Amino acid sequence: MRRKAVYCNRSLAVKVKRTLGKPVQPASESDAHNYQRLIKYLPEPIFVHDGNIILFANQAGLRLLNLTEADFSLPAARMNSRYIHPDFLERTVARLNAVLQTDEPNEFADCKLIAWDGEIIDVEVSSIRIRNYPGRGTVIQTVFHDIRDRKKEEEALIQSEKLSVAGQMAAGIAHEIRNPLTSLIGFSKFLKAKINQYHEYFDIMLVELDRINSIVQEFMALAKPQANQFKRHDLKKIIQNVLTLLETQAILRNVEIVLHAEADEAELLCDENQLKQVFVNVLKNAIEAMPNAGMITINMKLLQPHGFTVEIVDEGVGIPEDQLPKLGGPFFTTKDSGTGLGLMICYRIIEGHHGKMDISSAPGKGTTVTIFLPRNG
Ligand SMILES: Nc1ncnc2c1ncn2[C@@H]1O[C@H](COP(=O)(O)OP(=O)(O)O)[C@@H](O)[C@H]1O
Ligand SMILES: [Mg+2]
Repeated sequence: MRRKAVYCNRSLAVKVKRTLGKPVQPASESDAHNYQRLIKYLPEPIFVHDGNIILFANQAGLRLLNLTEADFSLPAARMNSRYIHPDFLERTVARLNAVLQTDEPNEFADCKLIAWDGEIIDVEVSSIRIRNYPGRGTVIQTVFHDIRDRKKEEEALIQSEKLSVAGQMAAGIAHEIRNPLTSLIGFSKFLKAKINQYHEYFDIMLVELDRINSIVQEFMALAKPQANQFKRHDLKKIIQNVLTLLETQAILRNVEIVLHAEADEAELLCDENQLKQVFVNVLKNAIEAMPNAGMITINMKLLQPHGFTVEIVDEGVGIPEDQLPKLGGPFFTTKDSGTGLGLMICYRIIEGHHGKMDISSAPGKGTTVTIFLPRNG
């Protein structure tokens, strides 16, 4: 829904109406000063401009463009391609020309600005003409809404939607792979029994086919949406299955993953698929944090009598201290193609198991994610 701009400079608007049809009375310098004072501290970024020459920008306006009053040397500042994204320049000029023909503000429209430091800022923009501006006559007042957060959320939603579609397709493909795989495994065994040579090759083929089979099975189980299913499962096996899934990705990035399992028996009441999802997310983050090879150590310990801890230690880039409180919040990501949903889902799943997840990190050295899981869910 488009909104009309609500303008604060009622006194000026009244003045504009009153002077309509009458000869324009030049207003005094103090009128301009009062007007600027009125809009200077308003929370919305506001610019007053004559054509493309910027006459005044309020504090929020300067903040939006990442400018200080000193950088912004009026009257050199122009509403041109320095501040308005080239894709929107033509449209902006047309809208400003149109708004000069009426006393009504134009409707908010999407636009992109370029801040002083080069950041592209998504905004909504609306303008209104102001007559009788001291020393200038008719000028334009333009209001911006900063919609960067909204855009980011929209993009993240689209991304997570894309991921879920990709997940569904991958599950479909996995299903299709399983049938031909069954015949490949069957006939390889058959040929191995019939042929008296090349057994070492058949063995390699069978081991590899088995690997494909287990990856496909893991994948299908992960992608299948289902309600909580709490059963007794072996935590070590869950972790080992996840490692099968991530092995290729780790090898591709020269990342070695080592599992130290203190306990031989590690049964707990849990939803197996949900826990796999947690370990996939945490391990993927660890792999992604090490662009130039490294090692991930997983320490699984028995915490008598009531549960287990799993520590996932990486040697990656680490997390700056000021970002630690943001982890697990929806859409918090520092990756170009990240969704910022992984850790949020992990926290929810672990909470659902009455466990705990802590993240500690030393920037430049690595990150440790510690997960506590009680034995009885
Ligand atoms: N092991 C890690 N090392 C460094 N940074 C991490 C690690 N795990 C998580 N992060 C940070 O937390 C952010 C959020 O992670 P996550 O919720 O999984 O979303 P995504 O992986 O899609 O960015 C990441 O973008 C990254 O900045
Ligand atoms: Mg992630």
